Amino acid sequence: MTSKLPDVSSTVHDLRSRVAEWRRAGEAVALVPTMGALHEGHLSLVRLGRSRARRTVTSIFVNPAQFAPTEDFDKYPRTFEDDLAKLATVGCDLVWAPNAKEMYPEGFATRVVPAGSAEGLETDFRPHFFGGVATVCTKLFMQSGADFACFGEKDFQQLCVIQQVVRDLNLPLEILPGATVREADGLAMSSRNRYLAPEQRARAVVIYDVIQRVAAAARAGPHEAALAEGTKALAAAGFGPIDYLTVRDAETLKSWSRVNGRPGRVLAAAWLGKTRLIDNVEV
Ligand code: PAF
Repeated sequence: MTSKLPDVSSTVHDLRSRVAEWRRAGEAVALVPTMGALHEGHLSLVRLGRSRARRTVTSIFVNPAQFAPTEDFDKYPRTFEDDLAKLATVGCDLVWAPNAKEMYPEGFATRVVPAGSAEGLETDFRPHFFGGVATVCTKLFMQSGADFACFGEKDFQQLCVIQQVVRDLNLPLEILPGATVREADGLAMSSRNRYLAPEQRARAVVIYDVIQRVAAAARAGPHEAALAEGTKALAAAGFGPIDYLTVRDAETLKSWSRVNGRPGRVLAAAWLGKTRLIDNVEV
């Protein structure tokens, strides 16, 4: 069955006039922010958006502001035609695909700099990252005027940061978190998984096994031994460096202890060859 390809907007003016038309018809709008290279995880977010809003917009923009000069901006996969075909299968209405000049015109000088849940974890290793994400997401929210925006739990700290930005700046939309979508063996879907060589791909799922074991230990009692064993298991599977493997409060991302009864989250980030994998599960 062939489905209609979504329309594509590449200027803020065009995006706004299309959304305004939907608004006049009383239709709610959900935004799914992405950097393209779409997989089932992204498509599940479009389905989530459609469950709450009559119209969905998927943004595809590889955001230079969230990459350090040493990172993979140039080689980040760009698969636009393939992305459009995938979005057609889930009924996405519109793709918002600005170029870098449209997003960051000459003279652009304002940044959103999140603290709180942005402190530690990813920020210890990618200090520029959440400033870039918060800035582009704030722009995407204002450009689209969406009622909802869908973010995957796979990037758990990013989800917490975006929720905080929306709260702190009183942005008029609701964030909808989407469950992590996994491959058959349990590896969390990620656009960067395609960097893995076949023998690395076979070992990559160890990160998921390890965080599940830490979560089980944390549910039952002290989890320090499970963290130490998990670190060894990751190293034995060829992961390194291991940026973090930790249990945190699921809302503040500060330290977590079973005794105070708050929700916990196990989070890990580790390199497998030249690919950095991150994953998390609830305690
Ligand atoms: O998760 C991503 O793909 C990006 O960080 C996002 C939210 C689209 C912002 O560029």
